[in-house]
Amino acid sequence: MAEAKRRSRGGALSVVPDAAPKPRVRGALRVLVLSGPNLDRLGKREPQIYGKATLAEIHDQIAAVAAQRKAVVDCRQSNHEGTLVDWFHEANDKAVGVAINAGAYTHTSVALHDAIRAISIPVIELHISNVHAREEFRHKSMIAPAVKGVICGFGPYSYILALQALKNLTA
Ligand code: DQA
Repeated sequence: MAEAKRRSRGGALSVVPDAAPKPRVRGALRVLVLSGPNLDRLGKREPQIYGKATLAEIHDQIAAVAAQRKAVVDCRQSNHEGTLVDWFHEANDKAVGVAINAGAYTHTSVALHDAIRAISIPVIELHISNVHAREEFRHKSMIAPAVKGVICGFGPYSYILALQALKNLTA
């Protein structure tokens, strides 16, 4: 790896590695948008809470907004905790940030908390519903202490807000 020689205030010479280049696809910054368990059921699942849009429709909206903002977005969904952990690790090398709707794993997963702490890129937690206005078990997030910020309650638009927040953090 190329290294740069820099002089500190006291005059001592230190050798520091160059900052790694940010992951880009044709010049655009790459971000991951992850959705956890049961979010593949959006559209059919409790529409009075989550709305009628399917996850595929939400992903299309995200792609359209990302294109306007010169970002490349990779949208993925899994019902499996370990798969989400693997995607966080992968994102550390391939993306500048991650937005995640961890679904019910939000409230239970130490593994996702640790995965977020194990990587160095910013992560935004998001929810379609206002989890604080719902059952008490949804008020606690295991991942909130590990993320940059939390967005909830704006319906599918929470995904777009999370994308905007990542853009501001990583541009
Ligand atoms: C959710 C809220 C969670 O409490 C729930 O388990 C979900 C969806 C949301 O987007 O509002 O699956 O993350």
